[in-house]
Amino acid sequence: MCGIVGYIGNQDAYPILIKGLHRLEYRGYDSAGVALINPHGQLNIYKAKGKVSELEKFAEDKDISGHIGIAHTRWATHGEPNQVNAHPHFSESEQLAIIHNGIIENYALLKEGLMQHGYTFRSTTDTEVLIQLIEYTQRTSKTDLRTAVQLALNQVVGAYAIAVLDKQHPDTIVAARKGSPLVVGVGDNEYFLASDATPIVEYTDKVIYIEDEEIVLLKKGEEPQITTISNVSKTPEIKKLEITLNQLEKGGYAHFMLKEIFEQPQTLRVSMRGRVNIDRDCIALSGFIDNRERFLNAKRIIITACGTSWHAGLIAMYCIEEFARIPVEVEYSSEFRYRKPVINKDDVVIAISQSGETADTLAAIRLAKDAGAFIFSICNVVGASIPRLSDSGCYTHVGPEIGVASTKAFTAQVTALIMLSLCIGKEKGTLDNESYLRILRELGNIPDHISKVLQQNDRLARFAQMFTYAQNFIYLGRGYNYPVALEGALKLKEISYIHAEGYPAAEMKHGPIALISQEMPVVVIAPHGSTYDKIVSNIQEIKARQGKIISIVTEGDTQVTEMSDFCIPIPKTEECLTPILSVIPLQLLAYHIAVAKERDVDQPRNLAKSVTVE
Ligand code: AGP
Repeated sequence: MCGIVGYIGNQDAYPILIKGLHRLEYRGYDSAGVALINPHGQLNIYKAKGKVSELEKFAEDKDISGHIGIAHTRWATHGEPNQVNAHPHFSESEQLAIIHNGIIENYALLKEGLMQHGYTFRSTTDTEVLIQLIEYTQRTSKTDLRTAVQLALNQVVGAYAIAVLDKQHPDTIVAARKGSPLVVGVGDNEYFLASDATPIVEYTDKVIYIEDEEIVLLKKGEEPQITTISNVSKTPEIKKLEITLNQLEKGGYAHFMLKEIFEQPQTLRVSMRGRVNIDRDCIALSGFIDNRERFLNAKRIIITACGTSWHAGLIAMYCIEEFARIPVEVEYSSEFRYRKPVINKDDVVIAISQSGETADTLAAIRLAKDAGAFIFSICNVVGASIPRLSDSGCYTHVGPEIGVASTKAFTAQVTALIMLSLCIGKEKGTLDNESYLRILRELGNIPDHISKVLQQNDRLARFAQMFTYAQNFIYLGRGYNYPVALEGALKLKEISYIHAEGYPAAEMKHGPIALISQEMPVVVIAPHGSTYDKIVSNIQEIKARQGKIISIVTEGDTQVTEMSDFCIPIPKTEECLTPILSVIPLQLLAYHIAVAKERDVDQPRNLAKSVTVE
């Protein structure tokens, strides 16, 4: 997510701004920049692709004087991560500068209007459209900056946290928010501004949390002025910060992984925003719409990925074959790239990668591209190597995933793949409209269902303590939940270092049942669905051999519940959507067992967040 920092007071702004950007690095970003008004009234902007240290190098020999400034770390949403698209952005006259965290959904329409008034644009960002709109409004309405911001934001659809400078008013910062966080730090005749309190806490513990649709005017020597975008005055409420710096970076959670598990209801809402339209009963995936013939005419779909992303691909195989009736092969990228596969020009290759930099997956799509296949990628990092090499794709937009163990990216990948499967099936006519609508509407309920599952966190934390002794786990699932068994096993082994295997439940009879004992917990994913009765039989076979059963069941279940030593209920949902819910307790179970074993949960030994080497 982007990071915002601002300062106005009697100190040099630049060191405070840069230190603040470093404090926000945990949010993940791909470029950084700073805007300063120096004592002569000049507005200087310096920005660089890459880390904050790159910005510092770039600014080394520049005029970094001034007691007022704003700074930004950018997590690209619109426009490649590069120096031009980095924030801050000048207005056309270079009188104003803006930084922005969020997405202006109607930026294209606004941009068209501004171009008709002769405005030109340096970048491909939605943010530059906003600062041009503010300048245009200020000029045409002949208003002060705060009013211009207020009038402009009334034309904006989307989410924003912004800070704006006007070199003609070097004692003022105007900031506003809707959907993205913004905090004001109140110092002694100085103000701090930031996306969260992390850059502020070392200077003051007095903060004002800006609420949605509020605009704040910060002026040296005066009280903060808060109004709504409807121009209603609000009294600033100063609160006391109670938490430490380290806690702040993790949003109060003990680890990034736990924070990211709990972010999933919101990250899926963001991921589906503008794509799943319940009111219009449709799914709009631009990557599919722009390339529908390629998908409709595909004789085969090859999915290539690694690790957790490969598990998402396996779920997609069940969906695509059920709804779109197109044969699907799911390949480990590392095997696919070397086994001399047969790839045809009418193949569609879907590459799944959270980081967009996994070396094996990158090599796999290079191979497929050379063979003339159409490459579609599902990635979480805008402008990463894999989406750049792809013909089209779909970003998951869940924000940076800091914990090495993938959680929110996985559920977003699965959601994107289900949306894609539904689009293809509907267009091909292989999925009846009633099923399409039923699943589409249930997709809209999934974030709330996840919130309900997360309410069992404390219960799972207590239960996890009983399994720290285990040396081995086995995870079982059938159908859509067989890949979830694989994912649950991977989560446990990669952060707790306990050996775990995922298996199709019916495969137990073909060998693994020899392993069953009291010492090896068996996790069975057994929601109601087409294979429920079969998995009940599998559980009976395990119980007959004194296996300990931990089960994921549908709320209200009795049969599996009675056979289990521990049950985690999940809300009833469409069978193809159960993986998004059944994985949540497995993420929490792995997390709490790892914490109980005092593992380094966010950076487990030997692992990297992005495997950019073979
Ligand atoms: C999952 O928790 C692991 N971090 C790992 O398996 C990961 O999914 C794999 O390395 C693929 O990474 P990618 O999605 O960035 O390509």
